[in-house]
Amino acid sequence: MPVYPDTDKLNAVEQTLTSFPPLVFAGEARALKADLAQVAAGKGFLLQGGDCAESFAEFHPNNIRDTFRVLLQMAVVLTFASKQPVVKVGRMAGQFAKPRSSPVEKIGDVELPSYLGDNINGIEFTPESRIPDPDRMLRAYSQAAATLNLLRAFSTGGYANLRQVHQWTLDHIGKSPWATKFSEMADKIGESLDFMEACGIDPQTVPQLKGTSFYTSHEALLLQYEEAMTRQDSLTGEWYDTSAHMLWIGDRTRFEGSAHVEYLRGVQNPIGMKCGPSLTPDALLAMLDTLNPSREAGRITLISRFGHDKVEAGLAPLVRAVKREGHPVVWSCDPMHGNVIKADNGYKTRPFDRILSEVKGFFAVHRAEGTHAGGIHIEMTGRDVTECTGGAVAITQEGLADRYHTHCDPRLNAAQSIELAFLLAEMLNLERSEKRAEAA
Ligand code: PEP
Ligand code: CO
Repeated sequence: MPVYPDTDKLNAVEQTLTSFPPLVFAGEARALKADLAQVAAGKGFLLQGGDCAESFAEFHPNNIRDTFRVLLQMAVVLTFASKQPVVKVGRMAGQFAKPRSSPVEKIGDVELPSYLGDNINGIEFTPESRIPDPDRMLRAYSQAAATLNLLRAFSTGGYANLRQVHQWTLDHIGKSPWATKFSEMADKIGESLDFMEACGIDPQTVPQLKGTSFYTSHEALLLQYEEAMTRQDSLTGEWYDTSAHMLWIGDRTRFEGSAHVEYLRGVQNPIGMKCGPSLTPDALLAMLDTLNPSREAGRITLISRFGHDKVEAGLAPLVRAVKREGHPVVWSCDPMHGNVIKADNGYKTRPFDRILSEVKGFFAVHRAEGTHAGGIHIEMTGRDVTECTGGAVAITQEGLADRYHTHCDPRLNAAQSIELAFLLAEMLNLERSEKRAEAA
């Protein structure tokens, strides 16, 4: 939690935020919860992705459009393979605050407080910029509002029409071998739509074909902001964090007695919780009792992030304990945060093959335990960045310097994200055919 030197200013900003309109509505958060309850029951898949950290500098309609478009493309690939609904949730419109491993950053002989995210302080390495400034929360609110407005327009205003599936192909995935595969799948979808239209099923009769549901999420880290955005729902009298549909608790703040757990316990939004190597099965069960005492399905998504070499041994005991106690949860895989390495030239990166290997380990655990591999949580962008190494359009360690733009952790670019979607699709297909074989 940042320490604001000017508490009067902080109080004034909190007052202002409290008077601002909610960014999302309680009914929307409930709709997402209902969708996630389906996923928890094994009937759907959660796709959650976006920036590690949104920034004021990268705020541009084209960036929002491109990230949204890649998420749509991924969702289509996954839906086509799994024949199950895909619940789409952006790490967008509010993902600003960052937990840091160290409170200070050192360059040469100079030591300054760490950068904590654009809603708290500045990334420039100067003493002034690293001072937490409450006004940044107001700017983050306005950026989140504008981002959400565009996302709502994209998801319901025609852009997400399934008839557009060919048009979503981005230029820079054109170089990837997966572009051809995507195009072939788009042809098949087009044919299916033609067939259904001949049967009288078209966007006029079935509005789901011309739009989609798209939800927002971020880590509920900056409690000053989240609390100021909390509103009582007039319909039910319950409290909601109206800064996003879904909020998650990070790996560093998910302990008994944590202020973040205490805050999220009191709001009714769907909640995510990161599960890393330090989490024991008993601690997890205690946390579930605290956050979801009534065992409501859709309330909790457990996002495992172990690292490619730890996932199988680390995840299995957690899955077993949760299954044994009968807690309804969505199990989602974050293959990003346990797989960060430092390249020889100093760049923080994530090798694509380790990301894939963690995803495979995640599916293997769920197959062995008889539970549903319910989702994926990734840091990605629609831009053609060079931040994670590997993939079919191979990015080398030397190539990282070309377009390394992230404000925090390295993200998958558009081509790598689509490639991951096809590999996930294979695994979902396998899960589906095994289930069918069991049922037969
Ligand atoms: C994140 O999702 O950006 C993050 C910091 O993850 P974790 O809490 O799992 O380290
Ligand atoms: Co991150």
